[in-house]
Amino acid sequence: MKFVVGAVDDLPPGASTIVYPDKVKSGIGVFNVNGEFYALKNTCPHMGGPLCKGHVRGTSEAALPADGLPETHWVRDGEVVSCPWHHWEFEIKTGRTIFKSNQKVRSYPVSIESPEELERLKAGVETVPVSIEGAAVVLEI
Ligand code: FES
Repeated sequence: MKFVVGAVDDLPPGASTIVYPDKVKSGIGVFNVNGEFYALKNTCPHMGGPLCKGHVRGTSEAALPADGLPETHWVRDGEVVSCPWHHWEFEIKTGRTIFKSNQKVRSYPVSIESPEELERLKAGVETVPVSIEGAAVVLEI
């Protein structure tokens, strides 16, 4: 099933929106990270908070030079969403938490469709990808 989020121009780099397809009542956050689009379920795996309503920002990373004082650096600016309830941080590109990589929020594939494909989607015409390999037509279902 495909769901139309909106026009690419309405979601510039750094912007995000939350959409509510019928099958995902809590919603799905769609993020533009430097021109690439990603989508995460709007349910935090910690305690179910509205993750995608959190701030999009970076995170701090510690470094401990052998001959100096510990340093912190701000990294991955615009690539991290922080849950508004208890501030767990998630990589928007992967859905994984910053602090523990086996904790993950569900992510969804996002594609950019041509105006012609968008018109077909709006008309409710179901389409499936088709490719031609050698002399055979292969249908991907
Ligand atoms: S519910 Fe998201 S950090 Fe607790």
